[in-house]
Amino acid sequence: MSLAHWVDALKSHWGITAELSRLDGEYDLNFKAQASDGRGYILKAMRPGCDSWLVEMQVQAFQHIATRAPDLPCPRVIAASDGATMCLITDETGAERLCWMLECLPGKCYARTNPKLPPLIHEIGATLGGAGKALADFQHPGLARDFKWDLMQAGWIGSELAAISEPARQSLIRDIDTEFSKLEPILAQLPKQAIHNDANDYNIMVAGELTEPRQVSGLIDLGDMCAAPRICDLAIAAAYIVLDQADPEAALAALVAGYHAAYPLTPQEIDLIYPLLRARLAVSVVNSTLMARENPDDPYVTISQAPAWRFLESHDLNPALVSARLRAACGLPVVDGADRVMDWIASERGNFAPLMGEDLGAAPMGALSVEHSTWPQNPFDMPLSEAARVGEEFEDGGRIWLGYYHEPRLIYAEPAFRKGPYKASNRRTVHLAVDAFAPAGTPMFAPLAGEVFVVENRTGHLDYGGVIILRHQTPAGDAFYTLYGHLDPECCDRLQPGDQIDKGAEFCRLGDATQNGGWAPHVHFQLALTTKGIEADWPGVGDPDEMYMWRAICPNPAALLNLPDEKCCFAPTSKDDIRQGRRDHFGGNLSLTYSDPVMLLRGWKHHLFDEWGRPYLDAYNNVPHVGHAHPRIQAVAADQLKRMNSNTRYLHPAQTAFADKILSKMPDHLDVCFFVNSGTEANELALRLARAHTGAKGMVTPDHGYHGNTTGVIDVSAYKFNAPGGVGPSDWVELVAVADDYRGAFRRDDPQRAQKFADLVDPAIAALQARGQGIAGFIAETFPSVGGQIIPPRGYLPAVYEKIRAAGGICIADEVQTGLGRLGDYYFGFEHQGASPDIVVLGKPIGNGHPLGVLVTSRAIADSFANGPEFFSTFGGSTLSCRMGKEVLDIVDDEALQDNARQRGAALIAGLKALEQRYQSVGDIRGMGLFLGVELINPDGSEATALCSYVKNRMRDHRILIGSEGPKDNILKIRPPLTIDAEGVEMILEVLDGVLAEAEPG
Ligand SMILES: Cc1ncc(COP(=O)(O)O)c(C=O)c1O
Repeated sequence: MSLAHWVDALKSHWGITAELSRLDGEYDLNFKAQASDGRGYILKAMRPGCDSWLVEMQVQAFQHIATRAPDLPCPRVIAASDGATMCLITDETGAERLCWMLECLPGKCYARTNPKLPPLIHEIGATLGGAGKALADFQHPGLARDFKWDLMQAGWIGSELAAISEPARQSLIRDIDTEFSKLEPILAQLPKQAIHNDANDYNIMVAGELTEPRQVSGLIDLGDMCAAPRICDLAIAAAYIVLDQADPEAALAALVAGYHAAYPLTPQEIDLIYPLLRARLAVSVVNSTLMARENPDDPYVTISQAPAWRFLESHDLNPALVSARLRAACGLPVVDGADRVMDWIASERGNFAPLMGEDLGAAPMGALSVEHSTWPQNPFDMPLSEAARVGEEFEDGGRIWLGYYHEPRLIYAEPAFRKGPYKASNRRTVHLAVDAFAPAGTPMFAPLAGEVFVVENRTGHLDYGGVIILRHQTPAGDAFYTLYGHLDPECCDRLQPGDQIDKGAEFCRLGDATQNGGWAPHVHFQLALTTKGIEADWPGVGDPDEMYMWRAICPNPAALLNLPDEKCCFAPTSKDDIRQGRRDHFGGNLSLTYSDPVMLLRGWKHHLFDEWGRPYLDAYNNVPHVGHAHPRIQAVAADQLKRMNSNTRYLHPAQTAFADKILSKMPDHLDVCFFVNSGTEANELALRLARAHTGAKGMVTPDHGYHGNTTGVIDVSAYKFNAPGGVGPSDWVELVAVADDYRGAFRRDDPQRAQKFADLVDPAIAALQARGQGIAGFIAETFPSVGGQIIPPRGYLPAVYEKIRAAGGICIADEVQTGLGRLGDYYFGFEHQGASPDIVVLGKPIGNGHPLGVLVTSRAIADSFANGPEFFSTFGGSTLSCRMGKEVLDIVDDEALQDNARQRGAALIAGLKALEQRYQSVGDIRGMGLFLGVELINPDGSEATALCSYVKNRMRDHRILIGSEGPKDNILKIRPPLTIDAEGVEMILEVLDGVLAEAEPG
């Protein structure tokens, strides 16, 4: 096959000069043509002898779509110079081929798109629906095809079962075939129309890379078109969409909702999707098994069927629940009649018998939500001692109080509520019932007549204890169900399924904590419009991301309690409202992390929770050094605030206790502490001390450093003063290059690099002296953090310090980021360097969130400063601050957190180094303990800023908070609280692996 031949053909028939490249194609020749004017085309030379109707049908269908739905991303047919849409061209073997041409659409095929997320899948559904709608009135005799890819004819697999040799697989396919045969009469009733019939992942084009939004850029290849019910078209696309999806149901829901939005479906059509999807996968695997028999040497045939087998064998989804989900995703009743039931219940509001025997209109609501409640103390563990007291703050002499429907709660802490292997995996949090809290033994009365459907004693830990489900019927004959949980199990002795309960009849009573699963006495009162797929085992709480479905299956039961819906329905504070409030009332340069920022309301150790109770692994925040919400920190704060909180003008033992603790960690020559409110204030004070001690003003500092936000320290923070719009350099500050031996002037292969970086200080000192500033000192983050998590070569700081001291200056080590055990092997970064600073600055982690900064120096320097006005910082060294700071340092010791940082850090670095081997985009792994950087690079070695932003945001999507840093913002910053455990490390490595894989060139 010579490309030149086709280049000539293209020129002579279409008048287009283009470079050709061959594309895949089983029998036909397909070429991508890149024309000299920049436009792209797809030239299709069909197999010799190809029926002309097949090309004609596709040409006409594409033209039909272009007329009916001009905005749909389907390729246009490019007519030849003589106006013909197809022409016969002789190939170089002398055979005649029918040729035609389409415009080339941008993007790459969906198969090579990663990640495949619901918004994109929704758009695929909408595109397919749009095409279906456009083709609804398309006619062509070729549509009436008799071929194996017509899903209506899927029954052919029944006669080929013997080809599947493995018994379990054969029986699986037999079951699907049997299922399918039941659908045939239903399919036969549905109207047929022209459908695409092969929207597989190679026939959908997607544009948009990395941080750009992904968009469907093409629906291509109409070669398998036929006339069939449109639901077959959607089911075929669905069969590919679910493959190898972490959450196939969410993908399916997105696809169907997208289709429905463009081309509304009936509930009956929706019910066919899942069985048809399975039928299509069965057709695929049977077909490829037959092909493998014909081509035993072609391994691709077997490989290509693996995902379909994987889906069929590992996902035994409940078809009724899938239907309910898909109906809900389309905003349709979850089962037939569900809308009538809800209308009837609403119309009867006020007429139901009072469940608790009294009118609940005035009963107070008690929020157990993530934002309003601190139950349980540890959101990963609900001990019985807490469960039995939940909501005690709302107790009022036995008066009934109500718990909200639709309320995200952290009280469901058991691993059973988790939807993945990690503590930060998705978790079911949103309450699907209304609770009524009242004393144990309180009798309950049926709100309406019903039949006992389930009565059981569920004795599991924090389960229901006694539970009853009643089945009801509306006057129109539609069924629905109500559930009563946490009962006294005596009901199990009295009732049995099938028993009739009259409206208003007393039928059960509240259990106590020994009977009701362990909870404070209350009834969990839930409504369900169907039990198909949930039977007797209803989830009492749902995943916040699946509420579109659970709200529809288990709606708010308020009307059955004769209450208005609004009273009982919880609405978490909206993130959008808070964002708007910030825009309205805060400065514009207050930044937010992530393209979809997170609102964080609770925390525990190295995890945080948003307003919906979604857990996040906090791998970024170093301020909660000993963990979020540490009980000892809570206790110290509460204890001290109960007593008094004052300042350093009065004596208090906490002041010296805190100083003693800090100084126990310092070299002997550092024996004086100043307590302030922040790292900024400590650095500001350090500059004053340096000036007081040396009488000079000039400072040397590494480029890209950060020491705080006040006027003084901004001048030594190149990260800020050199940023666009920054205040620019000051004449008393000289910058030196960061001792970055990955990207800097001297690299790791140079054994002299520490000295060479240090030598850069010489001209800086000379410049300051030449300007008459003298040398007050050198200030540096011991390991530059905002500069990119840099570990300077060992010996760098001592060499710099020597030069600074020789010039009369003093040396300030900013340990705000690196101190207090984070580095694992070292308590402070300067220890690694073998350096002996004159001033050490501590901040952030030392208060574990309480504003606290500390400056430690020598007596001589402190004395130079104590030569005039009083030094006073109102809150610096407050009683509370001193106790908090000491408690943090004690916890680091008591819980061996420095050692934990060493061990977890080593595991993280080892895992990250393994990723570095696998991904070209990982340029460097550096750091120590839990102070880590992952430098991301482009193929040419330059800084991969867009990729870094992508990875950071995708990690957040996967519930891991990490940051990014560096002059080009291309370094992932991993810096968790020191409590992080082996599971957290494993999660970071696994998720980062997946996200880096997404970003690999497809
Ligand atoms: C190294 C370093 N020094 C000082 C500061 C300033 O601390 P604060 O924001 O608590 O004033 C920071 C803050 O990020 C820092 O990273």
